[in-house]
Amino acid sequence: MEKGTEKKPEKEKKISAAVIGRLPRYYRYLGELIEEGTERISSRDLAKRMKVTASQIRQDLNNFGGFGQQGYGYNVRSLYSEIGKLLGIDQQHNVIIIGAGRLGQALANYANFAKRGFVIKALFDVNPDLIGNTVKGIPILDVAELEDFLKKNEIQIATLTIPKTQAMEVFGRLKACGIRAFWNFAHTDLPVADHEKIFVENVHLSESLMRLSYRVYEAGRSVEKEKKPAKGKEE
Ligand code: NAI
Repeated sequence: MEKGTEKKPEKEKKISAAVIGRLPRYYRYLGELIEEGTERISSRDLAKRMKVTASQIRQDLNNFGGFGQQGYGYNVRSLYSEIGKLLGIDQQHNVIIIGAGRLGQALANYANFAKRGFVIKALFDVNPDLIGNTVKGIPILDVAELEDFLKKNEIQIATLTIPKTQAMEVFGRLKACGIRAFWNFAHTDLPVADHEKIFVENVHLSESLMRLSYRVYEAGRSVEKEKKPAKGKEE
């Protein structure tokens, strides 16, 4: 917290999903501030930059003890590192990609994941034309070798970039090997029972586009409504 006495992080406290959802954005902005050489920032200036209210920033950061000091603001580096720890990205996560097609290869080609600690160890495919190739030095292996590979390598996250018809079978195999975290691009919702400690992050770019489309057309509809004279007021 920025005003008043500094609180110690409350380890026991459960942080709401909404706050957790905002943490990566704080992390990104703080990373930019570090790159610019900014050592400290007030909640007001951070709020201005992030286009949110200063009180939201104070409330969010108070959830895990604040890190701000009265008259000083937030220490950018320590806040960045604390949020990194909360997000678990201060550690390395080994990742595999199932489906070495266009999307799988595009993800493997993106170097910034490794900078964030997400290290892609292998891609898997069924296509003999792809098996044996590499993407940025990462091998494309036969998906038949999946279980064997997972026995020999510590992998925390599996990315699914395969057709939805294949997703359930592969999901089952990965769970049976102990994989608990799934970054799912296949166009299907992977079912997770309440008792399972399985985490699925579904990424559906087309849904994001549809939300954008709704907003664009909604704005258009509002303009049309404004233009149309109200009944009875027509000349
Ligand atoms: P793609 O056809 O280029 O690649 C799919 C790859 O999966 C192929 O290389 C194929 O041989 C492999 N494959 C099929 N069955 C497999 C299995 N059982 N095990 C391992 N590999 C297997 O397709 P693309 O464009 O890369 O898209 C991949 C999937 O992601 C598609 O289902 C597509 O609909 C979906 N997609 C989802 C997006 C999203 O925002 N969620 C965006 C773009 C694509």
